[in-house]
Amino acid sequence: MKPLYEAHRPASWRDLVGQDKLVRRLSILRRRGLVGRVFWVTGDSGTGKTTVAKLIADEIADDYAVIEIDAQDLGIDRLRDFERMCQFKPIGKGCHVFIVNEAHGLSSKVVSKLQTVLEQSHVQRNSTWIFTTTFQGQKRLFDGVMDACPFMSRAIELTLEHGEDVVLAFAVRARQIAQQEQLDGQPLDVYVRLVRDCGCNMRKVLQRIESGEMLVD
Ligand SMILES: Nc1ncnc2c1ncn2[C@@H]1O[C@H](COP(=O)(O)OP(=O)(O)OP(=O)(O)O)[C@@H](O)[C@H]1O
Ligand SMILES: [Mg+2]
Repeated sequence: MKPLYEAHRPASWRDLVGQDKLVRRLSILRRRGLVGRVFWVTGDSGTGKTTVAKLIADEIADDYAVIEIDAQDLGIDRLRDFERMCQFKPIGKGCHVFIVNEAHGLSSKVVSKLQTVLEQSHVQRNSTWIFTTTFQGQKRLFDGVMDACPFMSRAIELTLEHGEDVVLAFAVRARQIAQQEQLDGQPLDVYVRLVRDCGCNMRKVLQRIESGEMLVD
C-alpha cells in the first residue's frame, strides 16, 4: 500500500491547494504553450514542488517521455543523451519532459553545458525542463563557482508559498484526507497547529495523520 502522501498526491490542478498564485501564473504561460520552457521551481520541502513538476509533465507529455533525475546523477554524458533524445518528437503528446530534483546540486560543468543544450532549436521544439530545489537565492548556487545568471535568465521561476494562507489551505485538505481515510477525530484548529508544527511540509503532515495522531484517544 502506498503511503498517504503518495496516495493523495494531487492528480489535477484542482487538488493542489494553497498555491493559487503559481496556478494563475501557469495559466497565463499556458496561453503561449508550456513546451520549450525551462522552469525553476523553488519552495520549502513538502510544499508541492515535485507535484507541480508532475502536473506540468502530465499536461504536455506521456508517461514514457518523462524522465525524473536527481541533479547529482546528471552528468555530461547523461545530458548529451537527453539532448539526442530531443532530436525526435516522442509519439503521442509530442514532448519530452526532464525533471531535475535537488537542482541546487548541479555541478558547474553541467550548468555550463545546459546553457548550450537549452539553446538548441530541437531541444526547444521538443522538450520542457523542470528544475526543483528547496534552495532560495541564486547567488551561492552551483558550487558558488560560476555566475548562474545566463542559465537562470533562461528559466521561469515558480515559487511555492508557505505563509498563513497556505497553512489554512493545507489544514483543510489534511482534514479532508484524514476523514476520507477514517483517521480523523479532531477539529480544524488542531490540523492548523499540526501544519504549523510541520513547517508547512504536507508530506510530514500526512505521515503524522497516517500514524493515527488525529484520532481521538
Ligand atoms: N500544495 C499541495 N496541495 C496538496 N497536497 C500537497 C501539496 N504540496 C504537497 N502535498 C502533498 O505532499 C506530498 C509531497 O509533496 P511534494 O513531493 O510535491 O513536495 P516537494 O516540495 O517536492 O518536497 P521535497 O523538497 O521534499 O522534494 C505530495 O505527494 C502531496 O501528498
Ligand atoms: Mg520533491
